[in-house]
Amino acid sequence: MTRFAADWLSLREGFDARARNADVVKAVAAAFKGLPSLIVADLACGTGATRRALGTHLPQPQHWRLYDNDLSLLARAETPPAPAGSSIRTRPVDLMHDLEATLDGGPDLIATSALLDLVSQEWLERLVTECAARNLPLYATLTYTGEVTLDPVDRLDASIIAAVNRHQTSDKGFGPALGGAAAAELVRSCKSVGFSVVEGGSDWVIGVEDREMQSAMLTQWSQTAQEIGGIDTQDIAGWFARRRALVARGVSTMRVGHRDVFARPATTR
Ligand SMILES: C[S@@+](CC[C@H](N)C(=O)[O-])C[C@H]1O[C@@H](n2cnc3c(N)ncnc32)[C@H](O)[C@@H]1O
Repeated sequence: MTRFAADWLSLREGFDARARNADVVKAVAAAFKGLPSLIVADLACGTGATRRALGTHLPQPQHWRLYDNDLSLLARAETPPAPAGSSIRTRPVDLMHDLEATLDGGPDLIATSALLDLVSQEWLERLVTECAARNLPLYATLTYTGEVTLDPVDRLDASIIAAVNRHQTSDKGFGPALGGAAAAELVRSCKSVGFSVVEGGSDWVIGVEDREMQSAMLTQWSQTAQEIGGIDTQDIAGWFARRRALVARGVSTMRVGHRDVFARPATTR
């Protein structure tokens, strides 16, 4: 199982919030406009970033059901508290085994964020099939696409990112992961069950001033490239040092590809 530290989720939350595709958010907002109340199930909620990002675009009162298998993240997921009349309920769930339980009980919307690149083809199909069986719309955001642009370019960038993308397809607890193929597979699968799809890019744009985020990315990429093998350790260390020097000099930028999708059945509940 891959563990996600709360401080990493906190660091990425601002980049995620800026990256979320505005047209996709608009489509979600339009779909639920005027409803007297709303139940949203957030799968793999982490510390609750999706509620913080999407909540202001949806009608009140809202009842959020937050699911994750990490108790320490769930313990942080009720901030800020729900306004009067709305509610937040957190539940520890292993989505590999108990996905269906999270879709039952009458949610109006299934949300998930930064999860689907971690799951297998089989699990993705199961999610879409089970949503379709219940007529449930799905808002799936910040799925990593495998496209990374680093500027200025280093001679080892392409090899390192290729190694990272190979690592992305290893088992993260759901079977062999889709990695960079996940967003396209989600769209294909949703269309195959007759859902209409609104989709768009939600790339992280990481600027020269975002040194902490850039350092975190370089550390993660070096570690995953090392773990998956195929590149000499000294070469990885040299790449890491060169890229860190560019960050320190304030001349490094990064773009990390993601995609957002809102998929909905022809008729909703
Ligand atoms: C990249 S984090 C995204 C968290 C949150 N959605 C966000 O956007 O900040 C992936 C999340 O998936 C959760 N997760 C991974 N495997 C899981 C599983 N089998 N069941 C439930 N949650 C899982 C992790 O605990 C983590 O919170």
